[in-house]
Amino acid sequence: MQWWREAVVYQVYVRSFTDSDGDGVGDLEGIRSRLGYLELLGVDALWLTSFYTSPMADHGYDVADPRDVDPVFGDLAVFDALVSDAHDHGLKIVVDLVPNHTSVEHEWFRAARASAPGSPERERYHFRPGRGRDGAAPPNDWRSVFGGPAWTRVPGDPEWYLHLFSPDQPDLNWTNPEVWADLEKTVRFWLDRSVDGFRVDVAHGMSKPDGLPDAAGAPVDPRFDHEGVHDVHRMVRAVVDHFPQCLLVGQVCVRDDAAFARYVRADELHVGLTYRLLECPFDADAVRDAIEDSFDAVAGTPSPPSWVLADHDTPRPVTRYGGVARARAMAMVTLALPGTVFLYNGEELGLPDVELPDDALQDPRWLQSGRTDRGRDGCRVPLPWEGSGPGFGFTAGRPWLPIPDEWADRLVADQLEDTASTLSVYRRALELRRCHPGFTGRDLEWFGAPEGCLAFRRAGSTLVCALNTGDEPVPLPPGDVLLSSSPLSGGLLPPDTAVWLA
Ligand code: NOJ
Repeated sequence: MQWWREAVVYQVYVRSFTDSDGDGVGDLEGIRSRLGYLELLGVDALWLTSFYTSPMADHGYDVADPRDVDPVFGDLAVFDALVSDAHDHGLKIVVDLVPNHTSVEHEWFRAARASAPGSPERERYHFRPGRGRDGAAPPNDWRSVFGGPAWTRVPGDPEWYLHLFSPDQPDLNWTNPEVWADLEKTVRFWLDRSVDGFRVDVAHGMSKPDGLPDAAGAPVDPRFDHEGVHDVHRMVRAVVDHFPQCLLVGQVCVRDDAAFARYVRADELHVGLTYRLLECPFDADAVRDAIEDSFDAVAGTPSPPSWVLADHDTPRPVTRYGGVARARAMAMVTLALPGTVFLYNGEELGLPDVELPDDALQDPRWLQSGRTDRGRDGCRVPLPWEGSGPGFGFTAGRPWLPIPDEWADRLVADQLEDTASTLSVYRRALELRRCHPGFTGRDLEWFGAPEGCLAFRRAGSTLVCALNTGDEPVPLPPGDVLLSSSPLSGGLLPPDTAVWLA
């Protein structure tokens, strides 16, 4: 069986996991020192967020060299050691591919900037003359995902260049064969270093419609999900298929089920990250709809459904749902489901988002939105491992974002010792998911449940999962309790709690 079909993939936000050299920024050596913890936690694979050479305008998602490690994170020798040690711990390694854009510091973009309009150097990106008098207006009306126009004109340059994200992330031109060849080279490079998979950033991006038409009045958003993107996935998949145990997973932000399903056809991505559960509120009906929706999105495809409650781009579940009890309950719902589960580092500690002061904010969204969108730093604060502040075992120096003093009560070291901690619930849940015979069956059967509750089991299995999002305790469904997200008493399932029964 393909290892990822029931796997739990743990997302390591490399910058925030563990710093080995005291510069306040997490690194690959730091991850290496925590492999014992990750094995104990019981996940199957690590997805390492982008650690390639980068000026860090978008913390690594502005890649200057996709085939090298940024010095702040380590070097290729450390990467090789990490892969080898991870494999010894039974952990697979998934790395990012960032094919939609590069950094402005990429040698191609520097060459483009130094070259004249119409030159082959500029053909690797989207350079266009502006509109209006003196070309002073952008070539079309596209907006950047981070706020503001999706075009930037460098003073003195007759042309504008396209960037769907920050101005430091120029979009590549996917009609240019050199761009294709380079991605293939990158994929082969990391496969040769024994990675077990790739996560494709903005997997619905890359291809753009001819003529770059305005968005206003267009029937669909012309920036994303253009038909040509599927050829890119086919190309990568063809390379990856020489390594049958290599996972290709993509960040597919499209709402429509039929559109989503096209990304996970037999010759494209193995798995598409779906955000339906992540986007839904703590409400049993909404959760059930999101789960059913996620199944619908992969119906008729070879892909398993995927489940994501948290990542480095979204406020953490504890903050979204309003409390750690709810976040734990949702984690247990997620871990009961068939398919590939993605956990985000710190989720297992019950970390909330942090309200950071203005002067600590680093996400490009903050400045690019004219200081209206505080960005994603709140969910990227480094992990508290042990000891006291400011470093909490994350770093011997000063963490790149401040770790709040209150996190002294969420330390990994303490939670490992406490059987009632969030970490202990995750460990037990992961162990059961791995070892208990009830976690079989690819479909779900829903039971009737009181208002505000849901209950399901995996078809053909005896494992039942029930969730109470209401205000009142309800009777537990029949069965022996395997695990509950919060303590139970009197045969009742309290509010904000999930339970597994067999
Ligand atoms: C999606 C990544 O998850 C996000 O962190 C990044 O800012 C954008 N893609 C641009 O690469």
